[in-house]
Amino acid sequence: MVSLDTLTTTEKGATHTSVNGQAAAVGAGVLYVAESNGTQMEIDVSRRRRMTMLPLEVGTRVLCRWRDGKYHAVKVIERRKLPGGGGNDYEYYVHYNEFNRRLDEWVKLEQLDLDSVETVVDEKVEDKITSLKMTRHQKRKIDETHVEGHEELDAASLREHEEFTKVKNIATIELGRYEIETWYFSPFPPEYNECTKLFFCEFCLNFMKRKEQLQRHMRKCDLKHPPGDEIYRSGTLSMFEVDGKKNKVYGQNLCYLAKLFLDHKTLYYDVDLFLFYVLCECDDRGCHMVGYFSKEKHSEESYNLACILTLPPYQRKGYGKFLIAFSYELSKKEGKVGTPERPLSDLGLLSYRGYWTRVLLDILKKHKGNISIKELSDMTAIKAEDILTTLQSLELIQYRKGQHVICADPKVLDRHLKAAGRGGLDVDVCKLIWTPYKEQN
Ligand code: ACO
Ligand code: ZN
Repeated sequence: MVSLDTLTTTEKGATHTSVNGQAAAVGAGVLYVAESNGTQMEIDVSRRRRMTMLPLEVGTRVLCRWRDGKYHAVKVIERRKLPGGGGNDYEYYVHYNEFNRRLDEWVKLEQLDLDSVETVVDEKVEDKITSLKMTRHQKRKIDETHVEGHEELDAASLREHEEFTKVKNIATIELGRYEIETWYFSPFPPEYNECTKLFFCEFCLNFMKRKEQLQRHMRKCDLKHPPGDEIYRSGTLSMFEVDGKKNKVYGQNLCYLAKLFLDHKTLYYDVDLFLFYVLCECDDRGCHMVGYFSKEKHSEESYNLACILTLPPYQRKGYGKFLIAFSYELSKKEGKVGTPERPLSDLGLLSYRGYWTRVLLDILKKHKGNISIKELSDMTAIKAEDILTTLQSLELIQYRKGQHVICADPKVLDRHLKAAGRGGLDVDVCKLIWTPYKEQN
């Protein structure tokens, strides 16, 4: 694509050497205004330039007006022709450089500031070059643009992942009394390829293409809560344990649903290996899922949680912290330490950091005398590495007289506790009736 400078030169030249009628007309117009009004000439040059760059190529970097009314730098991820539109009538799927991928969206041409187009990158050529040889600098650059807790994915797997999942397929879902905008791509079976909206039964999680199908289903579906055992009830809050082996379809449906809100997680089709802990708010109509976490039946890496999700309408109410706390209560019952599966998402990391900070600092505040990381780990079931990184990030580990010590100045602890946010909903351990998986068989 030509730069603005080259185009200006061409434009001027065109006034003398136009080869077809259209170019001559544009050229003549520019010549005319160039003699009378410099500003008008710039406007025409700019308009001409815009026309030649349309439709924008995938890979183009440009400024885009977001919902806050301001312009933000984006990259064009995909484009599609508008139905019934002319040759250049496209809409564009863009990624905002400074935001998480969940905010990627289809935008209209009017939202793009074409004067800001930087370069046009041929994705395929770029991909080839990158896969042939990636310098350390390039690799770091790619990694740095994806700092949302995905640092453990190498640049190559990240590219592969993003290529495959680049455009959100399902835009909205209906679940119970909510219509929810989705965040990411989820690999629904091919027969749903043309769907942009899906209708879920909130109890068995079967999904359908049309509202009428869901209504018909609801008249027949006799579930009023997730399948499996209710292992916790406190007030209106209930937790159900669903064995993926015994409830395969439910487990798969839950994974399809959850993937719409989880980015860097592989969808496991082999749900047999997992237990799902589904948290519900219960009323006289039934138990409505607010979120869940999954857990491998046997984890060699001492993971006590594979994926965690609070459905968007229920987020920021403390359910995430409840689910995290619950996963550690299960670990305590198993007599093991646990850690969440990596990579953590941006929101996952925030929630875990908050949870770890609160639990550890509460103990440090109350504890008299020395305490080691190992003791903290035994008390909380939090893996020692996670304790260390949490305390280090709060700068509470100090090197004194030749050894590492935990700083427990009450004022400093209070300051950090305040910054860690609200405590979330508490797990009332007395109300948890559960035996670890291996003991059930
Ligand atoms: N913006 C800023 N901070 C946030 C946000 C947000 N949108 N969401 C959560 N936080 C932080 C806050 O510190 C919050 O505490 P506060 O409300 O007291 O300030 C804390 O995280 C957790 O808040 P909760 O209300 O307890 O958590 P929530 O119910 O919102 O669930 C969760 C958190 C599960 C991470 C949710 O955001 C979610 O489902 N996200 C999509 C899926 C996901 O990313 N899961 C984690 C992937 S990693 C893994 O699965 C191992
Ligand atoms: Zn159903």
